[in-house]
Amino acid sequence: MLVIIRRDSRQVSEEAARIVAAAVRAKPTLVLGLATGSTPVGMYHELVRLHTEDGLDFAKVTTFNLDEYLGLAAEHEQSYHYYMNEHLFRHINIPPKNVHIPDGQVPGGYESYCESYERQIQAAGGIDLQVLGIGKNGHIGFNEPASSLASKTRVKTLTMETIADNRRLFKPEDTMPTCAITMGIGTILQARRLLLLASGKGKDRAVAKAVEGPITASATASALQIHPDATVVLDRAAASRLRNRTYYQRVLKMTAKLTPNRLW
Ligand code: GLP
Repeated sequence: MLVIIRRDSRQVSEEAARIVAAAVRAKPTLVLGLATGSTPVGMYHELVRLHTEDGLDFAKVTTFNLDEYLGLAAEHEQSYHYYMNEHLFRHINIPPKNVHIPDGQVPGGYESYCESYERQIQAAGGIDLQVLGIGKNGHIGFNEPASSLASKTRVKTLTMETIADNRRLFKPEDTMPTCAITMGIGTILQARRLLLLASGKGKDRAVAKAVEGPITASATASALQIHPDATVVLDRAAASRLRNRTYYQRVLKMTAKLTPNRLW
């Protein structure tokens, strides 16, 4: 795992966008896994800027989003469909047919729907680079504590903690969904590269569990430890509980010197 620590959330966004942009430039047909939440907003903003000002080309890119709330229509302002259109898709040149987000309104038959989402990922050649955020309880996607570390796309019941965390984004009159369709940990681990972003003090414990804790279904982000190519980009606040911060900075310098390609 490569741990990159930057000053603040703005620098985290710029670093993440730089990594994604480099991956798109290196492979124009990139299959890109995307995440939602407040953390990657700045990265999307920067990717839009790179598209508009530097001609970053998404014409051949295919995307797969991690998750969607069960029961929300794509037009609902808190749906991840709406989020992705607002923050990225409507500003770039990705063909709509290349965009995949789990359908929160699939009418039952969840199992076969989730299997078809997995098949679509496989048919696209698998995910080259998966962007991830992290929940306060250490979840990635909506893989709540006790999610199997081999899980595939499925419906998950949200914990009360996650419901409370994400409630702030809904209007008071909205009913907050209590379930979501999410890629599983097994799905995420099959991606060729992982890029997890975290910023702010509120994420420090989750980050410490993910990076330095035991591999456990109680904090599913810890599964990154068994991935061969995972990069974690943190701001100082989110990294503040890591015991080996200084060591990670030395590793980064040495990696840049010895294997600059590793940094994309
Ligand atoms: C939700 C999403 C996760 C995201 C998490 C953290 O639970 N399913 O993918 O990482 O929120 O969101 P934020 O970045 O707003 O803290």
